[in-house]
Amino acid sequence: MARAHLEYIQTQTVPWKQLGKDALSRPGARVKPLSDDPDTKACTSILQYPAGWRMDRPHYLACDEEFFVLRGSFAIGGVTYRKGDYAYIPAGMPRPEMMSDDGADVLTFFEGPHESIYADAPDDLYDPTKLIARLVTSEMPWVPLSDPLLASLATGGGRKVLRQDPKTGERTWVLKLGPDDPKTFTAMKTETHPVVEETFLLEGEISMQCGVQKPGAYFWRPEGIEHGPVGTLTGMLGFFRCKGGPLTTQWSEKAVPIQWERPYKPVLTPTAAAYAHNSYDPSLAY
Ligand SMILES: [Fe+2]
Repeated sequence: MARAHLEYIQTQTVPWKQLGKDALSRPGARVKPLSDDPDTKACTSILQYPAGWRMDRPHYLACDEEFFVLRGSFAIGGVTYRKGDYAYIPAGMPRPEMMSDDGADVLTFFEGPHESIYADAPDDLYDPTKLIARLVTSEMPWVPLSDPLLASLATGGGRKVLRQDPKTGERTWVLKLGPDDPKTFTAMKTETHPVVEETFLLEGEISMQCGVQKPGAYFWRPEGIEHGPVGTLTGMLGFFRCKGGPLTTQWSEKAVPIQWERPYKPVLTPTAAAYAHNSYDPSLAY
């Protein structure tokens, strides 16, 4: 069973869970679980490390960990990550310690069971070719969008590719679009991908088929699901991943009118249904 379709939640509505001192993963941190695969144990979450947080014991993980810092700073083995920094840490990489002096909120993706293992990793587990030790994404240049349909809608559009897996074609990137002019931009084709698309909205608003996403919106959309039309009055900045292969787009034949005031009509998991419709403080980023 793969991860279920979840589109979308405002992560402000997701309750924090406190991890105890004996937790098998990141003891003493707080977590907002966003989505997970019950079979592989892969999951996406926001981890919050309190100021002064420390994991002093050397350890490793048996799965890859990918992350993007939303606030504050934290360090793994002497490498410090600040807001906007990105990393991909492969399974089996030794972690002498992890710590956060100031506290940090980190959008985190584990690709499997992520208990800390306090031992030396097996020799054949760590693949250093997969390591992306640190990217300061704020210093990377924007690359203009190559898809002519996207480029025409996105007056201020651009992309920064953070990772592309040479074997699977899976990719991680940040994307900015718009702002669109509602006088001239009134309709857009819908799109379908052969792979999962996963997104966390960092800034701005974006109108899609399930509503108008605000900063902190998150979705996991399985392959083959038609979506859109996409439009943004404010301009938007989002963190994206595609899973299961390279992302290609099949556009619909006809354009569909953009609705700038779409009501919230999400596709929810049973877990998310418990809180997704709760009101939240829009001054919170997530
Ligand atoms: Fe898409």
